[in-house]
Amino acid sequence: MIPAAASLHLYFRKFGKKDVRTYTDTPHSWAFNKLGSNFWEVLMSEPGRVEAFSRGLSLFEAIHPIIGVFPFEELLQPNNSPDRPLAVDVGGGRGLALLKIREGCPSLKGKLVLQDRKEVLDSIPPEELPGVEKMEHDFFTPQPVKHSQVYYIRRVFHDWQDEEACKILQAIVPAMAPDSRILISDMALPEPVGPEDDGAVWLDLMMMTIGGKERTKTDWEKLIEKAGLRLVKIWQTPQTGPLAVVEIMLKEPREENEGENGVQEEKKVEIQQPPVPSGHKGAEEPDIAKGIKRDHVDKVTGDAEAGETDTHGAEARPRELAHRDEAI
Ligand SMILES: C[S@@+](CC[C@H](N)C(=O)[O-])C[C@H]1O[C@@H](n2cnc3c(N)ncnc32)[C@H](O)[C@@H]1O
Repeated sequence: MIPAAASLHLYFRKFGKKDVRTYTDTPHSWAFNKLGSNFWEVLMSEPGRVEAFSRGLSLFEAIHPIIGVFPFEELLQPNNSPDRPLAVDVGGGRGLALLKIREGCPSLKGKLVLQDRKEVLDSIPPEELPGVEKMEHDFFTPQPVKHSQVYYIRRVFHDWQDEEACKILQAIVPAMAPDSRILISDMALPEPVGPEDDGAVWLDLMMMTIGGKERTKTDWEKLIEKAGLRLVKIWQTPQTGPLAVVEIMLKEPREENEGENGVQEEKKVEIQQPPVPSGHKGAEEPDIAKGIKRDHVDKVTGDAEAGETDTHGAEARPRELAHRDEAI
């Protein structure tokens, strides 16, 4: 993504100053001379790049921890059973999250399933994933693992705009038990962002190069509402800054009588209400896709066209992102 980020000003000069609303004609595909191919197709066009990318992600583990943000053991223990899937890691890459959950939550039993694209799964030797079942799965298609306690999705949603993100969520819904949780581990940017959030803003620009984006708390509320699901809580810690685990459950738990996979009869689940972020404009606006603008992109490219190479300096970033948030 770095070559794409470095040539953003040239991309916008050629394609116009507008948001990146494509997955195939992105700054990334343009930088690699592969217009018409999405990020994954560009990666797959060069031998070894898929594996290099998925291994490279592990370098960011320190700023994207799996244990210590969402209280897995505390909340999952009451309904945990060795006969029921514990966690499905959707688009899970090399499966590190599952290994960390197993290691960090010794009281939790149950099957761990790693789902991803074939190319990614094939690049992982079995000894790297003890006790984890690998399953090829396209996350836009119905989730095949029923009634898992957790459907864990890390660093995936920021690859996608809201329409596709909504489809990924909805593909899981029919598989969920009343007490299943979708846990999304991604950024939840504060509103407005401050100078201390420059790392997250940098990541937002990186994701833009492939057609994705980081989301604010309000963005998450709107997306989850649109998907017909219930935002239970956005978990964050002072140590991890804008990194969040977004906890989601069914809006109206369905009647469950099957007892399949050890799932008990429907029981009331205690939930904590999500904090109302400052600047919250309410979840009642129905069309989340409408009106989302990347005004900061226009600012960035405007500067670039004026001949400045360092167009998104540390001081400018928070201001520009805040400006985008105002437009939502
Ligand atoms: C940015 S990586 C995140 C990997 C992992 N969750 C992590 O945090 O390390 C996104 C992952 O989504 C996978 N992916 C992309 N499109 C997919 C699809 N349609 N179905 C399933 N997985 C997909 C990619 O192969 C990749 O492993």
